Amino acid sequence: MKLIGPFKQVVTLANLPLRGKLTDDQLEIIADGGIVVDNNVIQKIGNFATLKAENPNIEIELIEGEQVILPAFVDSHTHICFGGNRANDFAMRNAGKTYLEIAESGGGIWSSVQHTRNASEEELLNTLLERINFLINLGITTIEVKSGYGLDVENELKMLRIIKKAQESTKATLVPTCLSAHLKPRDFEGSNPEYLEYILTEILPKVKEEKLANRVDIFIEKSAFQPEESKEFLLKTKGLGFEITVHADQFTPGSSRIAVEVGAKSADHLEATIDEDIDFLAQSDTVATALPGASLGLGEKFTPARKLLDAGAIVAIASDWNPGSAPMGNLITQASILATFQKLTTAEVLAGMTFRAAFALNLEDRGVLEPGKKADFVTFKTNNFQNVLYNQGSLKAENVFINGIKI
Ligand code: NIG
Ligand code: FE
Repeated sequence: MKLIGPFKQVVTLANLPLRGKLTDDQLEIIADGGIVVDNNVIQKIGNFATLKAENPNIEIELIEGEQVILPAFVDSHTHICFGGNRANDFAMRNAGKTYLEIAESGGGIWSSVQHTRNASEEELLNTLLERINFLINLGITTIEVKSGYGLDVENELKMLRIIKKAQESTKATLVPTCLSAHLKPRDFEGSNPEYLEYILTEILPKVKEEKLANRVDIFIEKSAFQPEESKEFLLKTKGLGFEITVHADQFTPGSSRIAVEVGAKSADHLEATIDEDIDFLAQSDTVATALPGASLGLGEKFTPARKLLDAGAIVAIASDWNPGSAPMGNLITQASILATFQKLTTAEVLAGMTFRAAFALNLEDRGVLEPGKKADFVTFKTNNFQNVLYNQGSLKAENVFINGIKI
């Protein structure tokens, strides 16, 4: 057992609703606070001097200088296991080339598939761990990681095994997701429904057998999988016992409705979601995940997070870090920019990167500073927590704690 502190401000994010809009006066801020940790878990939070007086013999981990502490962040949507780089796609897009022109000149998702298939396991593992460390340094300690650049049995399993192996080398929590339904690969001889059937019969049973993931994702879009075939696929994956998440409404509306209908844990992207579907999402337990990194990477509009929150949806914010549409990877910068364009309160942004994102991953043991929760925290050297978003990512995390231990 130890007492960590003192902190100028402890931003607990406790006692906030899971869904809907938040005002900043709902935030609980403990001045001159401390946190008692034991066995990876928060035991008590309160005034540092009082906690010290109550436990005169407690070990103290002293915090130097003025710092604020928040729950560590959760990135609930990433594609950070990949080979190669798509800087040329980015440059071509900015030079006005179309999706088709980029694909024809060797870019797009298919190029990342080829680079990922050709990469050695060691190279994929090392670059994945580098990206994980980048995220940890931002204060993110729970990271979802998708497959989806293998697109056949051998290479999808290769990706998921590497993600599993990365878990042995990092203290962050990795949440693997099988995204074999990212795109029908060019070398698959058959239709979309046949490829989805191949995933169901050839890939998912092995994923289950080796316990590589218990979540399945699909990209529903004109250029990827169509609504009806996707719905059938999702219901079958659910039948196999997987949790579901969906890449929905990125360019074309309609698929968030399917995500809700099949009981997906989250519908992510939603840049093109229409008003009726915003209400449909808001009345469900499917988390609406905004991915501002993809809007910034593609020059597309932002997810209507303001409308979603006003309608009562559970809104999370994630990085979508991937080599194509979202190469930045800095969730704090992205969330802060989303806030200025969508007019989100600080409370809404912090909730979207913590307990609301954790809910999308079925991890309700974290994302809030309160007794009983996992002791994952991030501190910043400042006397005002508002500076975290105000500095748009340039105020670096000072310390990151996982299970109560500074890393
Ligand atoms: O979430 N939309 C589909 N999938 C990714 C992009 C992947 C890629 O371009 O490599 C996304 O934006
Ligand atoms: Fe994505």
